[in-house]
Amino acid sequence: MAMHSPYDTVTNSYVAVRPQYPDQWFSKLSALTSRHALAWDAGTGNGQAAITVAEHYERVVATDISEPMLKQGIPHPRVQYLHTPSSLSEEETVAMLGGENSVDLITVATAIHWFDIPKFYSIAKRVLCKPGGVIAVWTYNDLIRVNPEVEQVSRRLREICRPYWKPGVQYLFEEYRNLPFPFESVGLGCEGQPVELEMPREMSFETFLSWQRTFSAVATAKQNGVDLLTDDVVREFETAWGGSDLVRTVNFKVFMLAGTVKA
Ligand SMILES: C[S@@+](CC[C@H](N)C(=O)[O-])C[C@H]1O[C@@H](n2cnc3c(N)ncnc32)[C@H](O)[C@@H]1O
Repeated sequence: MAMHSPYDTVTNSYVAVRPQYPDQWFSKLSALTSRHALAWDAGTGNGQAAITVAEHYERVVATDISEPMLKQGIPHPRVQYLHTPSSLSEEETVAMLGGENSVDLITVATAIHWFDIPKFYSIAKRVLCKPGGVIAVWTYNDLIRVNPEVEQVSRRLREICRPYWKPGVQYLFEEYRNLPFPFESVGLGCEGQPVELEMPREMSFETFLSWQRTFSAVATAKQNGVDLLTDDVVREFETAWGGSDLVRTVNFKVFMLAGTVKA
């Protein structure tokens, strides 16, 4: 089977270990849109953001380039999972989403840095309701903020991963400060100035390691027969973590930008 997404081979662990976004973010975003008929969660993965968006919108279309990922989509009566291969044209994608001026909220959680961004924004501007529609993009990055020692090993892992990162990862490393975002601010970040949010999560050492195995670079290397999480790296993490039996609080930092189509 041809690979379409580095996440194709890590779908099971992805669902189990990736952190959930706080509900309050979605309440805040939903309060910014004037209607609540249709939302689009792009790069939905297992749909964890889509099902929370569905608490606020009548219908959610959740799309992804990866069919294996979509098969893990959490079922929800108001969420429709749709496959959007890169071969899908702009016209076809707009039609699939319900046409021009049809979407009240677009969310892209930890995914836009992998997209063909100009094509995506062109579609987003067409399908967003004007006025009143809002687009919100956010990400957390790969650095583990537990203590300075763990952060140092995760910076080292970032370097070890370098040959396998795809170009868009630079936006994530730069915490979305250089991500193009040609939309009018709605008070939640603007181009060049994402808002920084916190997402604390309890993690066992085992979950922490499994989470790192879902990194796109680690998964891509694995698909090429290379294990970047070598015994040495794991040992370094274990020492920095303070022992494999400890459950620790990991503080994910999240960078968010939200906006409307410029008049
Ligand atoms: C890090 S995961 C995030 C998944 C989910 N939004 C979350 O926050 O848990 C990135 C997702 O983007 C998808 N993806 C990558 N490139 C894409 C593209 N060009 N179009 C749509 N989805 C894409 C991947 O298959 C993967 O499911």
